[in-house]
Amino acid sequence: MLRAVNTTGKRARNLILIGFMGTGKTSVGMRVAKSLGFRFVDTDKLIVKKTGKPIPKIFEESGEEAFRRMETEVLRQCAAGENQVISTGGGIVTREENRDILREAGYVVWLRTSPEIIYERVRRNRNRPLLRTQDPLKTIRDLLDTRTAHYEDCSDLAITTDHLTMEETCYGVTESARLTLGMV
Ligand code: S3P
Repeated sequence: MLRAVNTTGKRARNLILIGFMGTGKTSVGMRVAKSLGFRFVDTDKLIVKKTGKPIPKIFEESGEEAFRRMETEVLRQCAAGENQVISTGGGIVTREENRDILREAGYVVWLRTSPEIIYERVRRNRNRPLLRTQDPLKTIRDLLDTRTAHYEDCSDLAITTDHLTMEETCYGVTESARLTLGMV
């Protein structure tokens, strides 16, 4: 369930949550931020605020590349702060530049969930343009195939959430962050 990936190196005092769409980064992040007394920020929400447009509209009007550029800009701004829980969009790890920023920005926890469970969580939600395909489960599997190595590569800790309740996941993330960030 818990797997240490890479716990070396100097980091800023932030906790960053990465992982595929539907792995609970936002819900977990909000709760953990409260427990740690950190500010909660979410890269997707910051992009929506900045552009005044929902994510599907940004993809539709400007394309994925434009979204990725905004994502990098917003991530850089977040990474400059401290004492934050930063929840990220599922595709943030696809850019090498972002992976470098993530590693420097703080303690990175990867919420790992199996494709079938992700599918159950996201199937009724129309807010994810990349999953508006004929066969969303296959799309999830294909995207995971290309992204998994990147999540692994820039995370300090992976937590497989498949059989965990929200409370258990939050507890694991909070306590590992407290230890790693020297808050105990
Ligand atoms: C994306 C994930 C989304 C959002 C955008 C693209 C992706 O965020 O950034 O739709 O490429 O996986 P969530 O992971 O919060 O759904």
